[in-house]
Amino acid sequence: MIPILRTVAEMRPLVRGWKAQGQTVGVVPTMGALHEGHLSLVRAAKAGTDRVIVTIFVNPKQFNSADDLAKYPRTEEADAALLAPLQVDAVFAPAPDAVYPAGFATTVSVAGVAGPLDGALRPGHFDGVATVVTKLFGMTLADRAYFGQKDWQQLQVVRRMAVDLNLPVDIIGCETLREADGLAMSSRNTRLSASDRQTAPSLYAAMVAAASAMRLGEPAAAALPRAEARLLASGFEAVEYLALRDAETLDAAADLSRPLRLLAAAWLGGVRLIDNISV
Ligand code: PAF
Repeated sequence: MIPILRTVAEMRPLVRGWKAQGQTVGVVPTMGALHEGHLSLVRAAKAGTDRVIVTIFVNPKQFNSADDLAKYPRTEEADAALLAPLQVDAVFAPAPDAVYPAGFATTVSVAGVAGPLDGALRPGHFDGVATVVTKLFGMTLADRAYFGQKDWQQLQVVRRMAVDLNLPVDIIGCETLREADGLAMSSRNTRLSASDRQTAPSLYAAMVAAASAMRLGEPAAAALPRAEARLLASGFEAVEYLALRDAETLDAAADLSRPLRLLAAAWLGGVRLIDNISV
C-alpha cells in the first residue's frame, strides 16, 4: 500500500529521512483523475530519481469558475489503484485548508510568458498554478519535478518561475501521450460524447497538417485560418486560439530561427480541448 499523506508535518520527516541517506526526490504534481499520460510522468520520475511523490490536489485557485471546480472529477481511490503497481513512494493529497489555511495571503504571479493565450483567456489561472506549484515544491522538498508538455504554456510558466525564484528544483517536461488516433490524453476526454470522441482527433490532424505546410514555407496567415476552418467544418463549436508562437516565451513568432510551437484551444461538445506541437 502506498502511504497517503495529508499534511506537511507528515511529509517532512519522510523526505528528510530519504535525503539523509543521500537519495534524490522526484515529484509529479497532479490534480488526480489519473490516466496513462500521468503514469508516463511517474515512470519518468521513477527512472530519474530515487524516491517519487505524486501529489493529488484539485487546486481551487487555478479554476475560473466555481462550477468547473465543483465538476472536476475526484477519484482518489481509483488513482491510488493506478499508482500501486508503479511503486510510488508516497501520495501527497492534502485537504484545501492544509494548503490554504485561514490568513493565506501570498500569490506567485509570473509576467511575460503567463500573459498571452490561456493567460488572457483564463484570468488568474496561471497565478493559481504558480502559487500552488511553488507551495508543492516547498512542501515536498523535491529535487526534480515532472510536468507534461500537453500543458505547454504551464510548463514554460513553471520553468520561468523556477529560474526567477532560484527554486532548487529541476523542471522536466515530458512528451504528450496520445491515443492511437492522435488525440492527446486528457482527463477531459472522458467528458466527450461517443460521436465527439470520433471528431476530437481532427484537432491534432489539423495541427499536424498546418505545421507541415508552414515547414514547407506556407505563411502562418494562410495555414492557420485553413486549419481553423477545417476544425469548424468537422464539428468543433469554436476555436479559441490556433497560434504559432516562440516555444519558450510564447511571444508572437517573429524570429523564425528560434524553436516555434503551434498551440491550440478549441471547444467540442462543451469540452475545451488543448494541444500543441513543435513546428
Ligand atoms: O497540470 C496540472 O494538473 C495542474 O495545473 C498542476 C500542475 C498539478 C497544478 O495544480
